[in-house]
Amino acid sequence: MISIDLQGRNVLVTGGSGGLGRAMSEMFAAAGARVAVHYHQGQKEAEEAVGAIGEAGGMARAFPADLSDPAAAGHLVENVESALGSLDVLVNNAGMDGRRALVGSDDPAAWEKVLHVDLLGPYYCARAAIPSMEKNGRGVIVNVTSVHEFIPWEGYSAYTSAKAGLSMFTKTLAQETAGRGIRVVAVAPGAIRTPINEAVWNDPALLRDLDQKISMGRLGKPEEIARAVVFLASDLASYITGTTLAVDGGMLIYPDFRHGG
Ligand code: BGC
Repeated sequence: MISIDLQGRNVLVTGGSGGLGRAMSEMFAAAGARVAVHYHQGQKEAEEAVGAIGEAGGMARAFPADLSDPAAAGHLVENVESALGSLDVLVNNAGMDGRRALVGSDDPAAWEKVLHVDLLGPYYCARAAIPSMEKNGRGVIVNVTSVHEFIPWEGYSAYTSAKAGLSMFTKTLAQETAGRGIRVVAVAPGAIRTPINEAVWNDPALLRDLDQKISMGRLGKPEEIARAVVFLASDLASYITGTTLAVDGGMLIYPDFRHGG
């Protein structure tokens, strides 16, 4: 029987206490890893996630940091390494869609904020994690992108630009580190039912519209993303680096082309 065993591995999940990150933190712990649950402002939520993991027999600790600050990202990685002994897996999950605004009537500060959280944050964390991964001769970085690393999205140019950038960062970093025992991969979730898109799935008309954009006709569940992330972080994926795995119920295969054309 094949199973995923991450005992002895230390994993940092940024934004690890809510939405997709919470499912990832729980699944890593269920696979035997020690989990560092990063949060920015939601201390209560992080403590809840850590408590739930502990009750289920797993090991987790919460770590705060503002990842749009390079020094804070560096300290986060240092704190996790000294608390857990090493860092084997970094999951750059923390992210935001930003507010919908067309270019020209948008706010440059808001655009930059999305870039900071969705692209620079992962870069800061990765650059802090690489030296010790290199020293240990092993490490995996999983960057959570989106179907919007491929699909343009009106009103969300900061988000699509950040996610496409994160995809190319994944490939370039994978190329830089492949000879040093480090793998760098991306997971591109489609529309997953989390607080980030609650306003859409809470509105029947908007939900119907979104479902039609998905070949499988339904939103994904957070654990469906978490399973892919845990697999990619494990030795089962030992030959996978520098690529994006879409986990999107077939959003990227143009469901509209089932007819017409
Ligand atoms: C966004 C969601 C959106 C989905 C599909 C994701 O990357 O975070 O808000 O529903 O893409 O458009």
